[in-house]
Amino acid sequence: MSAIQPHGGQLINRIVEGKERDELLAKAATLPVIPVNAWAISDLDLIGVGAFSPLTGFLNEDDYVSVVDNMRLANGLLWSIPVTLAVTSDQAAALSVGKQAALVGESDGIVYGIIDVESIYQANKKHEAVKVFKTDDLEHPGVVKLFDRPNTYVGGSVRVLNRPVPEKFNEFYFDPAETRRIFAEKGWKSVVGFQTRNPVHRAHEYIQKAAMEIVDGLFLNPLVGETKSDDVPANVRMKSYLALLENYYPKDRAFLGVFPAAMRYAGPREAIFHALVRKNYGCTHFIVGRDHAGVGDYYGTYEAQELLKSFAAEELGITPLYFEHSFFCTKCGNMASSKTCPHDKEHHLTLSGTKVRALLRDGICPPPEFSRPEVAQILIEGMAEASKTYAI
Ligand code: ADX
Repeated sequence: MSAIQPHGGQLINRIVEGKERDELLAKAATLPVIPVNAWAISDLDLIGVGAFSPLTGFLNEDDYVSVVDNMRLANGLLWSIPVTLAVTSDQAAALSVGKQAALVGESDGIVYGIIDVESIYQANKKHEAVKVFKTDDLEHPGVVKLFDRPNTYVGGSVRVLNRPVPEKFNEFYFDPAETRRIFAEKGWKSVVGFQTRNPVHRAHEYIQKAAMEIVDGLFLNPLVGETKSDDVPANVRMKSYLALLENYYPKDRAFLGVFPAAMRYAGPREAIFHALVRKNYGCTHFIVGRDHAGVGDYYGTYEAQELLKSFAAEELGITPLYFEHSFFCTKCGNMASSKTCPHDKEHHLTLSGTKVRALLRDGICPPPEFSRPEVAQILIEGMAEASKTYAI
């Protein structure tokens, strides 16, 4: 087993199997139903497998208030993102504290789990948005999702009875218990986790490899849950990660496994959450670069790093590795940051996401100093494929 302790000291397991599962499935058929969408199903499953340890369920009211206001669970443990279950007032009317409810997929009718209803309470959306996202602007993709949900939250421990089945890339889904075992089998004592919702470009590769120089292995852990519509779809990204690993990473030093969570775009707060969750997967280190989990201009370039630095090392229990904004410098002839390059900005190659998307859409590879050609090619093909279905 990996030496690093899960957050809170114990890897949670709320997955029920065998006879107990059969009994709970039979019971679920008699319970009031809470319909769950893809986002709630992914939260449920991540709670179930212990990725969100120490959570054993959706936040109860005292934990919700405490997480929103203080970034801590009611027992004082660091936790920065409220993981909550929203229901309509009609659905809430069928529930009672002290009873149970079945969590049923809204589009497939599958019983994903059971919740012990421990609290039913009203969300304070504006307050939650301002505290968690630092804005209540509905242009923010996380804020708009929050305001789109119903206003009542249901808290309580869950048990998972069925797990979501990925449509593709099944072989890259690993539970925290599995990644911990795999890292131990590889003999990795130190593992750096890398979160991304993007294709891996040269700047990402540079900071990963800088980190790889000082640890035993890289856990490339792209987020593949719900993202905003103009992010590159996970299936295309997965192909690009495989091409990159195949061509540019030593096979015995990098390991690819997905993080099937939804992206919150909560910047600094999400950076803490991302770090704690990667600790649960068995990482000892976690990369935090420029504007981690940010969107638009809502967060300062290094605000996520500053927030992480405000917590004691023992509280985080995973070592963040901080990187400055990285770029290719034509004078240096290599990747660099302001820490290592003395040259003026005019020598630095920087391309906006919008510019890169425009190039790819036109079938043009961005320069190799920005993106590896194998990656660019896959993105061009992915864009062409997607444009047959959606106007992008
Ligand atoms: S995120 O929303 O998942 O954080 P992204 O996939 O762009 O977005 O970033 C993944 C990680 O790489 C984050 O830690 C981010 O801070 C870092 N990063 C992205 N681009 C750069 C860059 N040019 N220089 C330094 N760090 C970067």
